[in-house]
Amino acid sequence: MTETWQALAAHHSAVKSRAILDLFADDHRAAAFSARLGGMLFDYSKTNIDAEGLGLLLDLAAAAGVAEKRDAMFAGAKINETEGRAVLHTALRNMDAAVMVDGADVTPALRATHARLHAFANDVRSGAFQGQGGPITDVVNIGIGGSDLGPAMACLALAPYADGPRCHFVSNVDGAHVADVLRGLDPATTLVIVASKTFTTIETMTNAETARVWMAGKVADPAAQFAAVSTAAAKTAAFGIAPERVFGFEDWVGGRYSMWGPIGLSLMLAVGPQAFDEFLAGAADMDAHFRTAEFAQNLPVLLALVGIWHNQICGYATRAVLPYDQRLSRLPAYLQQLEMESNGKRVAMDGSDLAIHSGPVVWGEPGTNGQHAFYQLIHQGTRPVPCEFLLAREGHEPDLAHQHLLLAANCLAQSEALLRGRSLAEATAIMAKKGLTGAELDRQARHRVFPGNRPSTTLAYAKLTPFVLGQIIALYEHRVFVEGVILGINSYDQWGVELGKELATALGPILEGAQSADAKDGSTRQLVEFFRGK
Ligand code: F6P
Repeated sequence: MTETWQALAAHHSAVKSRAILDLFADDHRAAAFSARLGGMLFDYSKTNIDAEGLGLLLDLAAAAGVAEKRDAMFAGAKINETEGRAVLHTALRNMDAAVMVDGADVTPALRATHARLHAFANDVRSGAFQGQGGPITDVVNIGIGGSDLGPAMACLALAPYADGPRCHFVSNVDGAHVADVLRGLDPATTLVIVASKTFTTIETMTNAETARVWMAGKVADPAAQFAAVSTAAAKTAAFGIAPERVFGFEDWVGGRYSMWGPIGLSLMLAVGPQAFDEFLAGAADMDAHFRTAEFAQNLPVLLALVGIWHNQICGYATRAVLPYDQRLSRLPAYLQQLEMESNGKRVAMDGSDLAIHSGPVVWGEPGTNGQHAFYQLIHQGTRPVPCEFLLAREGHEPDLAHQHLLLAANCLAQSEALLRGRSLAEATAIMAKKGLTGAELDRQARHRVFPGNRPSTTLAYAKLTPFVLGQIIALYEHRVFVEGVILGINSYDQWGVELGKELATALGPILEGAQSADAKDGSTRQLVEFFRGK
């Protein structure tokens, strides 16, 4: 532990029992503990971070070399050290500035692929490219993890901008998923995109084969209605997809960071190339801010420092992402992969055990739904859960502006309630007015106490446009980067997913009965026997 970590721990001990609400005695607190980018406001004033705490957190970022490592990432250095790769998803949204990897500028190839994606999307959307039964009405993206969550989340988020074919997403190897999605679609007017960085992922390849069989029953040439998105051109060719419908990318684009390029094809088909490019422009805007704004005003840095404060310093093991924006209902799932696959590591870059906890559990649901489900625990459970609210000033339904107002009132009310709470005296007064007295008054009042003093942040934005969605997603990507640098880990590998994959491959023949389960532990043997129906 460095001196700054120790100073932060000591600072936390000194301030942990004070009321956050009292910090607002300083009239300038809200403005001082907020940062803006264009029409976006990040308010972290409802946390227990004060000027001293912020100073120490900024010291931590400086000592970890966040600025130097950020610049190295943007410049194409191989910061993914366990895989020997650059980390250049940022180049996908800023294709004009040369970036060198292994001595060559990668941007001409990016521009060429981007132009091909535009042309293909325009052809599908205009009907120049047709299915064997007419213009494409439906697109099925088959992919999982980073080849699914990003475009699936964004298609939902940008539904008001969708004017192309309907997009559907199949990810789970559970046949129920592909069966339910394909049921009701017309194979003769459906385009299937097989999205897989590696083109080896068992779920995706199995579902792709199922879709091909489904299509073969109805059209003469199923492969003609397949497109592929992958880094593995040879494998897409072996699958039978013609090169003109294969869109490649390089291994320096991580799966969970890949929606800005060809993995975003389904989104581009749904909203059109122009809106897709606005999405890229929003992300590029956040990139520029991250690269140039001083850390005390830098949204990704501040979001990361709040995360470090709550998780590593205060010891809160989870964080709730609570979009008061129904169209961001898949954002928590998207962020689960982005944050937990990136920063769920147990060793530092050099292989030594981490001396501090790695990233938190990320979870959430849109408001107001969550209020009627799990907010009970957030308000009255024994362990604080830092909450991250998101809210647009304006919705896309002008006729329903009164509903947007209700939505906003609920969002603000929740962060206020978490901050303020309700004391025993207040609860007692409320119950006394209802006529309760004596021991029953006390008992009932105690159930109605809210401890308050629970931290939250709010990210407020003008409207969920493609540009703003791009800003928001890039904000979270860079937050993960900053937290990862401060923790000293590699945010860009994911070795933790391998063991389960290997064991699943070995268990296939055992479940089929072709191999014995004798070498397995007793529980696994029992489950194998149950599955085999013995
Ligand atoms: O198993 C995890 C993972 O490798 C993710 O990192 C990735 O996003 C996902 O699987 C899908 O991988 P692919 O795009 O190669 O099919």
